[in-house]
Amino acid sequence: MNTKFAALLLVSAGLASNAAVAESLVDGDPEAGKARAITCAACHGPEGNSANPLWPNIAGQHAKYTVAQLGAFKEGKRVNNLMTAQAMLLSDADMANLAVYYEGLTPAVQTVADPSLVARGEALYRGGSADNGVAACIACHGPRGKGNPASQYPSISGQHAAYTEKTLRDYASGERQSVAGNNVMNELAARLGDEDIRALAAYVQGLH
Ligand code: HEC
Ligand code: HEC
Repeated sequence: MNTKFAALLLVSAGLASNAAVAESLVDGDPEAGKARAITCAACHGPEGNSANPLWPNIAGQHAKYTVAQLGAFKEGKRVNNLMTAQAMLLSDADMANLAVYYEGLTPAVQTVADPSLVARGEALYRGGSADNGVAACIACHGPRGKGNPASQYPSISGQHAAYTEKTLRDYASGERQSVAGNNVMNELAARLGDEDIRALAAYVQGLH
């Protein structure tokens, strides 16, 4: 391949990926989502960043993942007292509109939760654990925890450590069943020890 052609390919690949960032994978109306989000704000905050660390931040989350999770709550595949009641009230159009609205909001930036656990969390996140057969989180959630919109790998960066810990324990016990990814999170989380879970959650909270 000559170098001029290679350079052109690089330029067009760059343009294509920029376009993918700007355009949502879900067809929804963010203005209608914003109007519908008034009830959500009580728990997830006025801009999608919640004050209670057990209530997840949802600002900037990939719309396809959000639609899938809202559907799972509504159908009873994912169960939570507070959230299930909310999802029951949503139509498919509401879910799409809410998902693109929240996707467009700016995720909060936080610092690591427990500095003494961060080295362990980072090592697991980036390298996994050959001993326990735990895959590196970075492979799917990316170096900055931003995930992958098309594969429904959620963004986990800046998420409250308390929520991340709870949800990893829920995957481990089967309380939370994966919607995407062939149960990979259930299998992985079941292999993590309690200290691993706390370390990962502490590290991830500081990613941005
Ligand atoms: C009464 C509090 C409350 C309200 C109101 C509420 N939620 Fe939630 N939401 C929660 C809690 C708690 C969770 C975490 C559930 C768990 O631990 O699995 C959650 C989880 C979610 C998730 C999954 C996030 C993830 O990262 O997997 C989404 C998406 C979501 N809520 C969207 C909404 C939307 C949209 C509304 C408004 C229609 C709403 N919520 C209203 C409490 C609430
Ligand atoms: C093979 C890809 C893959 C790997 C490796 C992986 N994940 Fe995931 N992760 C996913 C998918 C897919 C989901 C969504 C599953 C669902 O539908 O609930 C997810 C969901 C999550 C969630 C829930 C996010 C939320 O907002 O509720 C957390 C937290 C998480 N992963 C953390 C991790 C950690 C920590 C590791 C490393 C120990 C890891 N993941 C490794 C694919 C992966």
